[in-house]
Amino acid sequence: MTTSSEQTSNQSTEQSAQQNKDRVVLAYSGGLDTSVAIGWIGEQTGKEVIAVAVDVGQGGEDLDVIRRRALDCGAVEAWVVDAREEFASDYCMPALKANALYQGTYPLVSALSRPLIAKHLVQAARRFGAGTVAHGCTGKGNDQVRFEVSITSMAPDMTCISPVRDLALTRDVAIDYAERHSLPIETTKHNPFSIDQNVWGRAIETGFLEDLWNAPTKDVYSYTDDPTYPPLPDELVITFEEGLPVAIDERPVTPLEAIQEMNRRAGAQGVGRIDIVEDRLVGIKSREVYEAPGALALIEAHRALEAVTLERLQLRYKRHLESTWSDLVYEAQWYSPLKRSMDAFIADTQRYVNGDIRMVLHGGRATVNGRRSATGLYDFNLATYDSGDTFDQSSSRGFIEIYGLQSKLAAARDVRTGHGMGF
Ligand code: ARG
Repeated sequence: MTTSSEQTSNQSTEQSAQQNKDRVVLAYSGGLDTSVAIGWIGEQTGKEVIAVAVDVGQGGEDLDVIRRRALDCGAVEAWVVDAREEFASDYCMPALKANALYQGTYPLVSALSRPLIAKHLVQAARRFGAGTVAHGCTGKGNDQVRFEVSITSMAPDMTCISPVRDLALTRDVAIDYAERHSLPIETTKHNPFSIDQNVWGRAIETGFLEDLWNAPTKDVYSYTDDPTYPPLPDELVITFEEGLPVAIDERPVTPLEAIQEMNRRAGAQGVGRIDIVEDRLVGIKSREVYEAPGALALIEAHRALEAVTLERLQLRYKRHLESTWSDLVYEAQWYSPLKRSMDAFIADTQRYVNGDIRMVLHGGRATVNGRRSATGLYDFNLATYDSGDTFDQSSSRGFIEIYGLQSKLAAARDVRTGHGMGF
C-alpha cells in the first residue's frame, strides 16, 4: 500500500471548480464493479466520470495503480487520497472516546469510514465541478444510506446515484461489460465473501455465512490469528491523554500507529473476533463476522481508565449516551446536529481521562490488570481496609437510614394492606 500523499499522487488533474451538472464523482475502489461503473455511468447518463479513491486502510493495491486503472477505464479525472491518518484521528478516535459498539458488540468499522469517504467525494465534486456523486453500494445495505445522508448533510445541493441500485449494473452485466470493452481488470476472480476493511477493523458478509448455523471457517479471518492456539501472553501498557492513546510501552504513538500496533499485537492473540446477527437500518437482520483486534483492545483499556477517572453520575450517563452515539453513527447520522452535540459532551468528559492502563493479551482476550492515573478519583486511603483508612464509617449509619427511607415506608404499607412478604 502506498504512503504517497494527496499532493504527490494527483499531478495536475485539477480543474477549475465551476459547477458542472454533467459530471459525476464516483467512489472508486479499483475493483470490477466500480471499474465498469465508470463507463456504465457515462453510457447511461451521458455524463463525464471522475474517479475518487480514498485509502482508509483497505490494504491491497497501490493508490497510483488504482488511479491509473480509473483513467484506463475511461475516467476523465482520477483523484486518490491517503486518508489513513485522518481516518484514525478524526473518525476512529471519536469512536474510541465513545467506546462505540453498535448493539453492544460491533465497533462500527464500515460505519466510520463512510462519512470520511463521503467528505472526500464532496471535496472532489467541488474541485472538479460535479453535481452528482455515485457509489458502488447495493440497495440492501447500510452503506448506501451512510454515503448519501453524509453527502447531502454536507452538500444539500448534491444528487446521489448508485449504478448497482439505480442503473441495473448487476454482477453479470459488469463481467460482460468488462470483457466486451477489454477493461484492465480481472473478471474471473470471485471472492465468496463481501469484505470491507479499514484501519479500525474488517467486516465479512455473505456466502455460506448467510446460513446462520454455519460456523466461520479459517479463511474468513485475516486480522486475527486463531485464539485457541495463542502464543505466549503479551503484556503492554497504554498511556492515555484526554482519552486518546499517546504511547504504548512508553513509545509515543500517533492515533494511527496506536491502532496499527494494537491490531498487530492483539490480532496475534486472536483478540477481536465477532460473529453476530445484526439489525440493519433497512430492516434486514444479517449475519456479520468482524475482526477488530486493535479497536476492541483499545476500547477495553479506555473504559477501564474512565472507570478510574470519571465521576460516578457522569460515567453512568456517558454509558447510556455511548449506545445512542453508536446507534446514530451506525444509522448514517455522523454529520447530524445530535451527533455533534453529543461529541461536545463526550469531549468534556475526557478532560481527566489521563494515565496508564496495563493489559494482557492472550487467548482471544484483552484483560486489564493495572491502572494508574494522576487525575483519577480513586483514593487509596478512602478505599483501604488497612490502617490509614480516612473513610468515616460512622457516617454510613445515617446515610443508610435516609437512603432506605422510602423502601421502608413502602414495606410498612405493604404489611398494613396485607401485601407484605409474610415475614
Ligand atoms: N454490516 C456492517 C455495517 O453495516 C458492515 C458492512 C460492510 N460492507 C460490506 N460491503 N461488506 O456497518
